[in-house]
Amino acid sequence: MKTSIISLESGLLSNTLEQPVINFAQAELLSQTYPTPFLVLSPSRIIKSISILREYLPGVKIFYAMKSNPNREILQIIKNLVDGIDVASYGESSICQEVGFSSDNIIHTNPVKNEFDLECSVKQGIKWFVIDNMEEIKKIKRLAPYSNLLLRIAITNPHCIVNLSAKFGAQERDILPILKKARSEGLNVRGISLHVGSQSTEPDIYYSAVKYARKIFDEANTAGFTFDTLDVGGGFPISYRDALPTLSQFCTVLGNGLREFFPDDLNFLMEPGRCISGGCITLVTRVIGRAIRNGIPWYYIDDGVYGAFSGKLFDHCDYRLVSNRSGSLEECVVAGPTCDSIDIVSHNQRLPQLEVGDLLLSPGMGAYTIASATSFNGFAPPRTIVVHNENQIRGGNLNNKIINGRLRAYPKTPAARKVMNA
Ligand SMILES: Cc1ncc(COP(=O)(O)O)c(C=O)c1O
Repeated sequence: MKTSIISLESGLLSNTLEQPVINFAQAELLSQTYPTPFLVLSPSRIIKSISILREYLPGVKIFYAMKSNPNREILQIIKNLVDGIDVASYGESSICQEVGFSSDNIIHTNPVKNEFDLECSVKQGIKWFVIDNMEEIKKIKRLAPYSNLLLRIAITNPHCIVNLSAKFGAQERDILPILKKARSEGLNVRGISLHVGSQSTEPDIYYSAVKYARKIFDEANTAGFTFDTLDVGGGFPISYRDALPTLSQFCTVLGNGLREFFPDDLNFLMEPGRCISGGCITLVTRVIGRAIRNGIPWYYIDDGVYGAFSGKLFDHCDYRLVSNRSGSLEECVVAGPTCDSIDIVSHNQRLPQLEVGDLLLSPGMGAYTIASATSFNGFAPPRTIVVHNENQIRGGNLNNKIINGRLRAYPKTPAARKVMNA
């Protein structure tokens, strides 16, 4: 997975559907230097999302969930903007350390860790781990007895696309027994963590989850535990093909819950992934083939579900395809480049008639996309190109750092250089 960095004006922000970070003219120019498919990353979109989290949830520490997109440029961009990183493995924490995150700012939130992973993470200096079952207590006691622990609790949420509580989180009846077992083994449980499920579409779940966490805090308190930490996880959605409430609306509801049920001085954490990495990336693909099958146009493009559209399978996500052609919209099938019949990007999107060679833009392609892409059939996953807004680059320390240290890809053609210098 290669990353290149160039510089041009970034696109619009939207409160409705995710919008592409570049327009078609810019995509066309970039494609003269970087063959499609490629992902275009807009740092200003990342900065915008994080500033919304900061504004609406002051006092809640942000640990970026790097599982959503472990791209090193993203980690570099956010290094001075977030409080730390949420990792699921030693592999992820190793990338963070290479990028310069201190182990003091890494929290390992996988509730079931293999022993090698746990041992290596402890050696790296990671001090915060998550548990949700009795068996994990034995492992922690042996390999990480002095760590700070959070107990992950399950949250019922019918309004999320990825139900993480189907796999993780202690059920209510198991919570006190697990806490007591941890205490009897001399372990230090500092509080509760939860995740309402990813791409969670109703803000109110944050309020009810926090209310439930308060109940657990009270029960634990009665049993003699003094918790000082609440980790409210991630789950904030982005608007792929349906317009959802905005990030600020979700944060407002969560913030109201936190203020109502918890004291201001509690150690609040969150682990957002998608809302930081999702909207900042647009995929640029090209139509490489066309057929009529059973009377329906099929368009074959140069990336598919084995590439950045992998989230179609793993993230249950339906991505938007944008064409700049005019003309009446018609039912069509858009398929990826591999020889597998599962490699269908879209069955249900109406597009104008496309030609071989056309570019398509897919906004909101940053989270759970390239992270799970493969090279199946010999098609390499798309590279990521970082596109800066020059005015903002001059304004901020963080961006200056990137410009000075990492501006390394220089467009080869005069046309692409013109975009870079615009
Ligand atoms: C433990 C944990 N934290 C945070 C996240 C990030 O969630 P999201 O991308 O929905 O914000 C996930 C996603 O799987 C997760 O498993």
